[in-house]
Amino acid sequence: MSSVTRIHDLPQHVGESVTLEAWLTGSRSSGKIAFLQLRDGSGFVQGVLPADAVDEDTFQTARALDQEAAVHVVGTVAEDVRAPSGVELHVTGLTLVAAGNEYPITPKEHGVDFLFEHRHVHLRHKRPWAILRIRDLVERSIHDFFAERGFLRFDAPFFMPTAVEGTTNLFEIDLFGEDTAYLSQSGQLYAEAGALAFGKVYTFGPTFRAEKSKTRRHLLEFWMIEPEVAWLDHAGNMQLQEDFVAYLAGRVLEGAKEELALLERDTTVLEATAQGGFPRMTYDAALDALKAAGEELTWGDDFGAPHETILGDLHDRPVFIEGWPTQTKAFYMEPYEDDPTRVKAADLIAPEGYGEIIGGSQRIHDLALLERRIAEHDLPSEAFAWYVDLRRHGSVPHSGFGMGLERLLAWFTGVNHLREVVPFPRMLTRMYP
Ligand code: 4AD
Ligand code: MG
Repeated sequence: MSSVTRIHDLPQHVGESVTLEAWLTGSRSSGKIAFLQLRDGSGFVQGVLPADAVDEDTFQTARALDQEAAVHVVGTVAEDVRAPSGVELHVTGLTLVAAGNEYPITPKEHGVDFLFEHRHVHLRHKRPWAILRIRDLVERSIHDFFAERGFLRFDAPFFMPTAVEGTTNLFEIDLFGEDTAYLSQSGQLYAEAGALAFGKVYTFGPTFRAEKSKTRRHLLEFWMIEPEVAWLDHAGNMQLQEDFVAYLAGRVLEGAKEELALLERDTTVLEATAQGGFPRMTYDAALDALKAAGEELTWGDDFGAPHETILGDLHDRPVFIEGWPTQTKAFYMEPYEDDPTRVKAADLIAPEGYGEIIGGSQRIHDLALLERRIAEHDLPSEAFAWYVDLRRHGSVPHSGFGMGLERLLAWFTGVNHLREVVPFPRMLTRMYP
């Protein structure tokens, strides 16, 4: 088999003859010349085919290609300053491998529902291409960030005996009528065991929440990254989050220029984010800011999407909201010594209307206090026995956080719904394909 070049690498082969394995995304032609829009998964390029460059049969084959026909193409790479990739292909040979056969997503405008009903082929198009390549880059950058800092990747189970983040959005699994399990809302509790064993760990896996609300920020299944670090306090935890998000913004700006341009993403805010220096705001100051914006809340209320949007828009980069009321937050959060009505927790709110991207806190490490909190929250003490046990053997302050991958990606790519940043989104209104 002759060697194949990927479209992404064509700029390194100017003047050379190459073979592509590609699909046709569109074409136009006259009796004298055909212009073929080609993709191969790594990129997009235009093939130019003058009638006299090939025999009559090949030219007619090229002209008759339908959308998404699979082809082998041979051609010479030529510079073309007008093309986004800087090159085009002067075609010298072409064979049809498989026809497109009435491909459903035609160049006309289609509604979102139609596109997601055809998600299995919609993935071939330019927007999903750019977005999912950024997803891949962010996933790799996440692993790099933690590997460079000595973290161990630690896989938490997906079947759980307990809830972590409240019981209202749990998916229950019937274990053959013998017992009940839940799909994991968060790997945090297991990551805490990991932190005490390995010092610094992070989980990276799917998490599940039975969210009945149909918002653009909620999926039933999303991927979460949950670092957990022994001996780390609340301030250090926020610093780690800031370093992390700034690092990811920098990696995307550097490594996804073509994708961001294709999405017409204004990168001003991402550039500010890559600088770090995220502002910190107290919960009380946030209540004041909301009141000034006409949204009055009572002390202890949690923020909804409109509130997060207002707070996120106060700055050109993400903002930490800290000093949360103990009553508002999860059972495992460490209260302040001098004010037990507040916990050492922060939410990180993205600008541009994307809302909370991270929730994190210092964890209770005192045995008696944790037992009391579990009782106050009416949680089943037997199921939490192992978690409490961690406080019996060399218990130290430790902290961690959870970042929703899709929230971060929706913001980075500037899309208006989380479903766009997952290959096959899972929502109340979408289980197919
Ligand atoms: O704030 P949450 O509920 O925090 C936790 O689960 C902690 N146990 C994390 C930890 O400290 N290890 O969720 C964390 C993040 C949110 O900030 C948000 O980005 C994302 O998970 N998230 C969702 N993303 C998409 N769809 C949903 N339904 C989400 N619910 C939460
Ligand atoms: Mg949260």
